[in-house]
Amino acid sequence: MKPLTRNGAIVLVLTLSILPACAQSSSVTNSTTNSITISTTNSGQSVYSDVIQPIFTAKCSFCHGGSSLDAGLSLESWGQVMAGSSRGAAVIAFDAENSLLVELATKYQAGSHPEELSSASLIDAEIQQIKDWINSGAPGPAEQIPFADSNDFIYVTNQGEGTVNVIDTGSNTVVRRVDLTALGFAVMSKPHHIAVEEDGSYWYVSMIAENRVLKFSRDNELVGQAEFQVPGLMALDPASDLLFVGRSMAAVNPPQSIGFIERSSMDIEEVEVFHPRPHAIAVSSTGDYVFSGSLGENRIIAVNVESRDGTRHSVEGPIHTLVQFGVTPDGQTMIVGGQLTGKLFFYDISNAPELTLLKTIDVNAAPWHPVFSPDGKFAYLANKMANTVTVIDMESQSIAKVIEGEGLSQPHGAALSASGKFLYVSNNNLNGHYTPHFDLGDNELAGTVVIIDTHSMEIVKVLEVGAYPSGAGSRRAQ
Ligand code: HEC
Repeated sequence: MKPLTRNGAIVLVLTLSILPACAQSSSVTNSTTNSITISTTNSGQSVYSDVIQPIFTAKCSFCHGGSSLDAGLSLESWGQVMAGSSRGAAVIAFDAENSLLVELATKYQAGSHPEELSSASLIDAEIQQIKDWINSGAPGPAEQIPFADSNDFIYVTNQGEGTVNVIDTGSNTVVRRVDLTALGFAVMSKPHHIAVEEDGSYWYVSMIAENRVLKFSRDNELVGQAEFQVPGLMALDPASDLLFVGRSMAAVNPPQSIGFIERSSMDIEEVEVFHPRPHAIAVSSTGDYVFSGSLGENRIIAVNVESRDGTRHSVEGPIHTLVQFGVTPDGQTMIVGGQLTGKLFFYDISNAPELTLLKTIDVNAAPWHPVFSPDGKFAYLANKMANTVTVIDMESQSIAKVIEGEGLSQPHGAALSASGKFLYVSNNNLNGHYTPHFDLGDNELAGTVVIIDTHSMEIVKVLEVGAYPSGAGSRRAQ
């Protein structure tokens, strides 16, 4: 890199080592340290203080600062830049291409921002400096990498583009976008579902079209993988080393077995479940039984994890197409929705492998992936065909609220922050029911993550993410 000059000052270039904790997948090398180049000035300050903030101060902060906070975005300090706007992130560290601040300068169809508001836009050299800074991790005045110390993330797959969003639950912004194509996987590798270790140390993603489950460290480094045909939903056993995996809904006639993955080694064993299209999957709170539900028949099987013996159960009525289970935190009750009938079933599983049907209720169309509040009082599930989220009162086993609103468009997966304060619902938006706020020329397939305050049960934010957001996962709410 050539020395840069700014205001006549010579800018020196130093090579700094960034901790592996700061690495993002696009810069992942599987090595323990990533060396990147950060330029600093001869005044000993940082790129942020000497190069980036002065650009924002000259061209942006009279609209994005002080009492004038357009879009709720302040560009007056590094902390405020990283906090983003009322709509989401302005900058995604290590990913200039998907950072809205850069996109608005380079791709905004209304004209480069803020030129479309008759204010001077960034010149090419400034855009390049901002891009380089973002791609080096958007370090702050003390060279700190944003959100390097956070440990409560929501992971949401972009099934249509081979990436995974990492959402920080403190700021409710996308703080990393893990690019699986940079690791050699196809754009249409179809990352589908996420499971996360309870302490946040590792996360797992099922890759439908790559026939494997990948294991990532908290720092988004690929550390292992297991081969399994058309993997779909996953269930992580907090009581053992096992991760259970079923088959994708996209598969018409997959093997009638589920995967038992040892998370430490990523060794996998396939266990027969004797029903077609095993999709729904959950594990009992003690880790003694894993439950598998069929998309093709009204069947649930409880498999003894130790002996591998299965106990089969039938579900009454027409084909429901059981999508996904949820087990209450106390391990007593399991719920499952039927995609075709809009039924929600409540089972007592305290005597597993026996299942006792407690109640059946009607909910909005296509109840998808349920999650529970940490105290087990509420269940939340997306209604894929109704663009709503149903909140279930578990005590009365009835509907507490049906949430509707902007951003809900083919809602699919759900995950809670560890505190249970926020619910995150991924939305495919393949039908364009939601129109992104800014036209960036490539918005046809922009999906969303809708953030709901679980106390008020209101939508508080709509994050625009990539193409076809599907599965969502987080550390178990506690
Ligand atoms: C003349 C006032 C003005 C100036 C100068 C200005 N902006 Fe903006 N900016 C706005 C307004 C107004 C919006 C909201 C537009 C909307 O919602 O459609 C906005 C929105 C944004 C957003 C999107 C926030 C979000 O999440 O919706 C970003 C990023 C942004 N500006 C960055 C910048 C940068 C970088 C500069 C300096 C190069 C800048 N702006 C200069 C007025 C300004």
